[in-house]
Amino acid sequence: GKKAAAELREELKKEVSELKTKYNKVPGLTVILIGDMAPSQIYVRNKEKSANEVGLKSEVIKYPEAVEEKTVLDKIEELNNDETVSGILVQLPLPKHIDKQKVIETITPSKDVDGFHPINQGLLMQGLPGFIPATPYGIVLLLQHFKIETTGKEAVVIGRSNIVGRPMSILLSQPGPAGNCTVTLCHSKTQNLNEHIRRADIVVAALGQPEFVKADMIKPGAVVIDVGITRVDNPSKKSGFELKGDVDFSNVSPLCSWITPVPGGAGPMTIAALLQNTLLACVRRNN
Ligand code: GUN
Repeated sequence: GKKAAAELREELKKEVSELKTKYNKVPGLTVILIGDMAPSQIYVRNKEKSANEVGLKSEVIKYPEAVEEKTVLDKIEELNNDETVSGILVQLPLPKHIDKQKVIETITPSKDVDGFHPINQGLLMQGLPGFIPATPYGIVLLLQHFKIETTGKEAVVIGRSNIVGRPMSILLSQPGPAGNCTVTLCHSKTQNLNEHIRRADIVVAALGQPEFVKADMIKPGAVVIDVGITRVDNPSKKSGFELKGDVDFSNVSPLCSWITPVPGGAGPMTIAALLQNTLLACVRRNN
């Protein structure tokens, strides 16, 4: 993931530079960050750093945890109308008093680089051009990068979130690159989960339970993509915690043809896909 994302960022850097030379345009990404949750702060810092690295203009607007919903919605409206802003992203999760759905639906679909707006999710559903959520989009780019054959394969996606699992299941089943799979979408109410996973040629684990996927669930030769990233206490680390994926990497990896580590797998690809979406937003809107 790290290597593929670095190469993708290099390509994006060239495209951004060309856009500047030819049309004097610089794509802009604006991120809204509410509260002081440590993981969100780190994710936003990484997004900002990567955006700057490829030559995008990036801005982070920070609000305290207690900010009123109206203040955030008004700011989104202002950004919707700002010609210098190509993409808008509101970092999730949000404080409880703010209606997530209202926030998502206030972002104009043509600037919704997270691909969370129902319009973009509907376009994705129909295989039409819109914005694909960054994590599943990053996984598609990763499969393409390493020329991993997906056509006719059994894919099992674990987790049905609107951000990862559900769009991933749609992308893997669509005709075209990194598609044409027979997809099973598993979730917390799935019966005989292990049997489903054991049949899979491609497993995407996005359930948010550290080391849930064990070696005895994996078909030898399977491709395993780990989307999980959970902080687990570990007093021997300086930070007091370590990051764990949804897959028991040390025991599963010897069985796989391909596997993504955590960190350094799906994460960097998610950020690269977000930057790709921001560039797309700029080109499509012509601003
Ligand atoms: N929080 C965790 N993942 C994401 C993401 O992809 N986008 C946003 N906006 N918030 C997140």
